[in-house]
Amino acid sequence: MIKTALKFSFIIIFLSCCKKDDNSDIINNQKQDDPITQTPYVLSLPQHFVYIDPPQIPVDNPLTVEGIALGKKLFFEKKLSKNNVLSCASCHKPEDAFNDKGLALSIGVDGTPGLRNAMPLFNLAFNKTFPDHGSFNWHGAKLTIEQQAFGPVTDKLEMVETWPNVVSKLQNDPAYPPLFEKAFNTPIVDSNLVVKAIAQFERTLISGNSKADNEIKKRNGIAYTGQALNAQEKRGYELFIGEGKGDCMHCHGIFPNPLWTDFEFRNNGLDANPDSGLAQVTKRASDVGKFKTPSLRNLVFTDPYMHDGRFQTLEEVVDFYASGIQSSPTIDPTMLKNRNLTPAEKVDLIAFLKAITDSTFVTNPAFRE
Ligand code: HEC
Ligand code: HEC
Repeated sequence: MIKTALKFSFIIIFLSCCKKDDNSDIINNQKQDDPITQTPYVLSLPQHFVYIDPPQIPVDNPLTVEGIALGKKLFFEKKLSKNNVLSCASCHKPEDAFNDKGLALSIGVDGTPGLRNAMPLFNLAFNKTFPDHGSFNWHGAKLTIEQQAFGPVTDKLEMVETWPNVVSKLQNDPAYPPLFEKAFNTPIVDSNLVVKAIAQFERTLISGNSKADNEIKKRNGIAYTGQALNAQEKRGYELFIGEGKGDCMHCHGIFPNPLWTDFEFRNNGLDANPDSGLAQVTKRASDVGKFKTPSLRNLVFTDPYMHDGRFQTLEEVVDFYASGIQSSPTIDPTMLKNRNLTPAEKVDLIAFLKAITDSTFVTNPAFRE
């Protein structure tokens, strides 16, 4: 099924590239009867990911070995920024689950802090889509992974570059035209192709190997290597799902969902006068203070926490949920209950959160420069 879809999308790409009669230079640079040489790439998913909807791969940007290789090189490419000082990977470091651990707000090319905490990048192809706003960034500003990748390059607090400059820098680097040719059948660098390649690489960032993942496999009779949850972590999980206790699962998922979020945008009660959040996009008063519910996977690599990096530790996060909730008109109703967590229960809950750590993800050589 997936293979058929891929083949079909190659046909579409082939047709659309040959229809580019508005750009005769491109046509002249290619032999019209060039065979399509890209190698389809099928995502290798952990077995327990069968319990969720399949990854969404756009028909006009199928995964190919050549596209992913180009996207990886571009992800680590500092020429995407002013003065060639930052790459995507400067703020999304593979060793920190593609996050900038330790920074509350990311630092841009000019040394100025941005507005938000950088988001870790994994399992992006599984993000939910919404009819009236985007799926990406804390406030749902970006519709697709491709569209998202345009943003950081020109952002005045991030890479501070222009797309024409990026295109010309890449075009004049002898390494790139052959790679674009391999990936997209044209040596002409184009911003749309840059973001397509980067998005292909980003969709390969699958994280699904932790003690909590092993527990899902164990409970479903799927073979696993390494350990599943120990007694303390299991107690933590019971608090996580317990409606009278932590009750985290309404937003951050429940076995066998291996994503640890449902991706909905919510106000979890951080502030009495919250930041606009999703309302910045939808312009609805009812969306003020709503932010994307983040995954709880790989938290040991992504501190500090929340959209503004206000909490340094998981202890601070759990204390907030236990006794720091601030009410406001758009607060999610499940935040208003009293989460009576004893000191021992807090320790158990944190042990469970740490058990959703995928160490193989942050050391995977396929994701390193
Ligand atoms: C200066 C640091 C910085 C750089 C450089 C940077 N990012 Fe980000 N990234 C962030 C921050 C901060 C956010 C959250 C932004 C927001 O919500 O407004 C983010 C969010 C994202 C997201 C959204 C993830 C989600 O789950 O919604 C993606 C995808 C992403 N960045 C990819 C990229 C790519 C691709 C590049 C290079 C073209 C890049 N970033 C460059 C800091 C950076
Ligand atoms: C009503 C939905 C909801 C519930 C219930 C909920 N959360 Fe959250 N959680 C969110 C949202 C939304 C955010 C992001 C908030 C922001 O930054 O503005 C978040 C953020 C977090 C973060 C920060 C992650 C990061 O990458 O910065 C952690 C950790 C966390 N929650 C753990 C928990 C735990 C533990 C529980 C149960 C005690 C819980 N959450 C209950 C919605 C919820």
